[in-house]
Amino acid sequence: LEDVVPQAPEDPLFGLMAAYRKDTYEGKVDLGIGAYRDNNAKPWVLPVVKMADEILRSDPNLNHEYLPIAGLQDFTQPSQRLILGPDSPAIKDKRTVSLQTISGTGAVHLGALFLSKFYKANTDRAVYFSSPTWANHNQIFSNVSLPIKTYPYFSAKTKGLDFDGMMSTISSAPEGSIILLHACAHNPTGVDPTQEQWKKIAVVMRERSHFPFFDCAYQGFASGDLAKDAWAVRYFVEQGFELCIAQSYAKNFGLYGERAGCFHFVTGAAPDAEKTIGRIASQLTILQRSEISNPPAYGARIAALVLNDDKLFAEWEANLRTMSGRIIDMRKALRSKLEELGTPGTWNHITDQIGMFSFTGLNEKQVLTLREESHVYMTKNGRISMAGLNTQNIDYFAKAVDKVVRE
Ligand code: LMR
Repeated sequence: LEDVVPQAPEDPLFGLMAAYRKDTYEGKVDLGIGAYRDNNAKPWVLPVVKMADEILRSDPNLNHEYLPIAGLQDFTQPSQRLILGPDSPAIKDKRTVSLQTISGTGAVHLGALFLSKFYKANTDRAVYFSSPTWANHNQIFSNVSLPIKTYPYFSAKTKGLDFDGMMSTISSAPEGSIILLHACAHNPTGVDPTQEQWKKIAVVMRERSHFPFFDCAYQGFASGDLAKDAWAVRYFVEQGFELCIAQSYAKNFGLYGERAGCFHFVTGAAPDAEKTIGRIASQLTILQRSEISNPPAYGARIAALVLNDDKLFAEWEANLRTMSGRIIDMRKALRSKLEELGTPGTWNHITDQIGMFSFTGLNEKQVLTLREESHVYMTKNGRISMAGLNTQNIDYFAKAVDKVVRE
């Protein structure tokens, strides 16, 4: 293979993280990877995770046996209820199958792999991504040879949703296209459709018989309200769509390295739906077995303890509000600091956007200058991870942005 394997580029996000670690400047600021930090810029182990961890460790029967191929049922069943809602018709009618995956990435991959094998609704079989989208979507879907197209999403002018552009591309896409949608807290823009806009998207998707593929990495993390953040998914299910969902517990449980996630496939409400889902489940099981055999246990056990216990669940909800609340405070603080400084441009988008990220509107040159001159690390597209800001570095960051915008 000496001559045929070209050098691949370094992953931009993990490369950025490595560059940040190497920087010896004391006041450096990490706004790169989407991982929650507390007000001291430190990773935060959720108190509820500590509680569940203690329960797990004190269990004398805990062992390290294999999980079933589809994962821990105590985890996948409440995960269904969490995303679809406890009274979902898709659960009652037994037309949902759920497999535990290697976090959200593994869930997106399992869905992509399954669709690449079985999705025959049109010859084109293209998957439409928002422009922009999470960088890894591109790699995951091209690895399974599904053609990739994009629909407009972010308006550079308003720094909000380009709803008309999005609707026009989705309505002119070939019938039966796969449309990838971010369930909430869109990565990288922080811009979500309103509920009225979601309804209109559903109408066009129904007319065109498109297949919705929801990526849900921030439930509860966006607004602090688990049901609100799942609204779009639940609405599409109510409308009778056949769809799939990639669900990550990395951010909302802070279980980044434990790789706890779930893939759900929901069939439409046809009379033989239960049989259909049985066949789909059997194929997903084979794919999972050939790729990872069975998923890792630890993170799923932690999440399962919390999801199945009312008291722990309430504690989790409080922890979610702590994270989302601090991020919202940082949005308000950053916007008001930039406005106080009179930084050229408008900054309302910082508080209009939601979730882990803000798409600042800074261009690549400004991003590189911020890194070189101020030791501020963010992705080249101008995205900042809001959780990297805190009461100690926000003045420094606002002043650095002000300077670079004026240059
Ligand atoms: C991010 O976008 O920063 C996170 O979702 C981390 C990742 O895996 O890309």
